[in-house]
Amino acid sequence: MKTGLKIVTIGGGSSYTPELIEGFINYYHELPVREIWLVDVKEGREKLEIVGNLAKRMVKKAGVPIEIHLTLNRKEALKSADFVTTQFRVGLLAARGKDESIPLKHGVLGQETNGPGGLFKALRTIPVILDICAEMEELCPNAWLINFTNPAGMVTEAVLRHSTIKKVVGLCNVPIGMEMGVAKLLDVDHNRVRIDFAGLNHMVYGLDVFVDGVSVKDQVISLITDPKKSITMQNIHAMGWEPEFLKALDVLPCPYHNYYYKSEEMLEKELNNFKDGGTRAEVVKKLEAELFELYKNPNLAIKPPQLEKRGGAYYSEAAVRLIHSMYTDKRDIQAVNTRNNGAIASIPFDSAVEISCIITKDGPKPIAIEDLPIQVRGLVQQIKSFERAAIDASVSGDYGTALLAMTINPLVPSDTKAKVILDEMLEAHKEYLPQFHSFSEKGV
Ligand code: G6P
Repeated sequence: MKTGLKIVTIGGGSSYTPELIEGFINYYHELPVREIWLVDVKEGREKLEIVGNLAKRMVKKAGVPIEIHLTLNRKEALKSADFVTTQFRVGLLAARGKDESIPLKHGVLGQETNGPGGLFKALRTIPVILDICAEMEELCPNAWLINFTNPAGMVTEAVLRHSTIKKVVGLCNVPIGMEMGVAKLLDVDHNRVRIDFAGLNHMVYGLDVFVDGVSVKDQVISLITDPKKSITMQNIHAMGWEPEFLKALDVLPCPYHNYYYKSEEMLEKELNNFKDGGTRAEVVKKLEAELFELYKNPNLAIKPPQLEKRGGAYYSEAAVRLIHSMYTDKRDIQAVNTRNNGAIASIPFDSAVEISCIITKDGPKPIAIEDLPIQVRGLVQQIKSFERAAIDASVSGDYGTALLAMTINPLVPSDTKAKVILDEMLEAHKEYLPQFHSFSEKGV
């Protein structure tokens, strides 16, 4: 019998793949990966080959016996997998460009995972993840699904509520990024930092922050009001916070909270970027072109530092650390997206939350917090209502439910504008929204 783990990565042609491969190489001595299958769709064939060949060179240079397989045949790859990781983008970067630019044309924030963009990314992605789950049920029913595909919280909840796959964990780099950010801010090793996280994906708060077990929350809160000391990611422009506001909030916001507590400024910034040449999708397209040129170089056998210009920093560390803790039943604490199960009282039991968990071989066990502090509870609940409507619309293809989701999103200012944006985006993304097809055809 073969020993070692079989990992399958769907969306394997992504420019992020070298991150993941680097993670598996670094952990090889504790996490015996036998084979990694990188899977992509026909449109991604060229990227898959380029990045897949780099992955082969990386394992060879590192001297680890991990086999790298490249395929367009998802079913073949999934057979007897131990872990399936997902990092795909339905409609590629062109779809992201539409998610970002259409709302902006109507004076509404255009962002990949928030507001109308987040809704449409969910509508396109959820049917595909549910297809993958059906295939997993048949081909690798014991595998764990580790989902990085955005919007990661909604995608994870869709799997939990609408598939038979219960072994699913949603992962994001925001929590690890915030811990790394605090470490840098206080100039301490990141292993000494722990944040107690609770909330939703891209809507998570640090309820307390510790260095060596001693709370440093107040110190961190006062430091990050300075824009130069903000904790952020490459894709989000940090502006700092009003000191009295943050002190009163009394918890650590995540970088995505800029879109909610600084909506006006963030919208203005996006509109200016849009006028001057494009949205983040345009920036990422250029970065990707540059990265794939580097990846083609047959002498390159490491992850190039240029990848750090993408927003997904530390994503390999988060992914491999999680898989390692599940494989070894390590029972350490990591923040992931998982079924709430009452850990946060004001969020439905069957919803996904992003929360500090104990990571065991049977999956993450959320650490119950009773409830979110009252000053953040309302916003989190509103986003969860939006997410539930968005997930339901993704599955049913019901127009009214999609309009409901768009309108109750706090970044959309009116039902009339919500309808205008919804109709334009349904049309623009028609190809990837078969569940809404009858609507589009009738032009209701
Ligand atoms: C952050 C988020 C990720 C997202 C990424 C986008 O890191 O946590 O969920 O995928 O930014 O970065 P990009 O470079 O694609 O704009």
